[in-house]
Amino acid sequence: MSLSEAARKVRENAHAPYSNFKVGAAIRASSGAVYIGCNVENVAYPEGTCAEAGAIAAMVAAGDTAITEAYVIADSPTPVPPCGGCRQKLAEFAKGNVRVTLATVAGGELVTTVGDLLPGAFGASHMENS
Ligand code: THU
Repeated sequence: MSLSEAARKVRENAHAPYSNFKVGAAIRASSGAVYIGCNVENVAYPEGTCAEAGAIAAMVAAGDTAITEAYVIADSPTPVPPCGGCRQKLAEFAKGNVRVTLATVAGGELVTTVGDLLPGAFGASHMENS
């Protein structure tokens, strides 16, 4: 199954009764395996988690540590941009040149990279004096 199909399918399982905004994410890891996630909201709103976070957690739990491609989809007017926190989460496991496709349910796609989504990313090198 393609990343596009996997993300579109898992989006349907999102638990988003508060925002009504369902998001699906699929990532491919260096092993070739595909991991999926959807947003899981909570009545205590800050406890909700994003689709990307779910996919990344599944990847790490399975023993993979490197993202080679990512795909995110929502029913948005323009291709859904990952939130700031998810950009940092992607950057933890993906090199800057890793392709991220942002998509709409209607079929729109915007291809970008982890580096373009998070320019000037905070990284381990910034802690070298500590
Ligand atoms: N959301 C995601 O799952 N990923 C994103 O990249 C953007 C936002 C979710 C969080 C929340 O459940 C809903 O979309 C509205 O913000």
